[in-house]
Amino acid sequence: MAQAVGIDIGGTGIKGALVDTEKGVLLSDRIKMDTPKGGEPDAIVKVVVAIVEQLKVARTVPVGVCFPAIVIDGKTMSAANVSHKWIDFEAEKFFEKALGRDIRFVNDADAAGIGEVRYGAARDVSGLVIMTTLGTGIGSALIYNGILVPNAELGHIEVDGKDAEKRASYAAKERGRLSFKSWSRRLQRYYETLEFLLSPDLFVVGGGVSKSYEEFLPLLTLRTKIVPATLRNNAGILGAASLAVDRIAAAKAPGARK
Ligand code: BGC
Repeated sequence: MAQAVGIDIGGTGIKGALVDTEKGVLLSDRIKMDTPKGGEPDAIVKVVVAIVEQLKVARTVPVGVCFPAIVIDGKTMSAANVSHKWIDFEAEKFFEKALGRDIRFVNDADAAGIGEVRYGAARDVSGLVIMTTLGTGIGSALIYNGILVPNAELGHIEVDGKDAEKRASYAAKERGRLSFKSWSRRLQRYYETLEFLLSPDLFVVGGGVSKSYEEFLPLLTLRTKIVPATLRNNAGILGAASLAVDRIAAAKAPGARK
């Protein structure tokens, strides 16, 4: 059995669990702690260390961490909805030092998308899957025949002259006290724009609000199938853990750079 720890860092909470990455199930309880106010690296890493300690896993167990930023070679390049200290920051190295082990650091929506493609709503779907997470912002993952095109930032495309996540995220619904019906008009504009630009085979909709999918997905008119995420709050944890295992497999492959 392949095991790994997945940690999902969000604007309000940090969640982690031990995962069976072959079956895509949690092997431990999910530990959840609050994200420290201000969302700065020093404070966040302390919480992550506490979660990994609580899970009591051997040092050889891979750890995957996902976070709401563009992540290139372990370096965070952006900071939408978190502290600006993450911009141009060697996050993976910083976490490796604090945790005393190798880790893999990836974008949160990429992890959730990989989770849904490997174990959830988009399992066995070929072609282009676009995962979107509707939360504080809009996260996105582009996965073509199981291969992730990392760091797609489709929450920030311009729709009707505005940054899409400012109008169509779940936070925008809450801010504007919009009914599902009014919010769905904004979602319609968002998803039809993505559909026009990328002609995907499937949209998967995640984020906490996806549990109420019956309230808004049926109001959308698209030619592309659009389904709710099935892994709910665990998609990021499962995907991050799975991507951490991939990293180990790649490092062991013949000809891999040491
Ligand atoms: C960020 C993305 C992130 C998404 C969901 C966006 O504002 O730019 O990197 O994946 O929020 O957290």
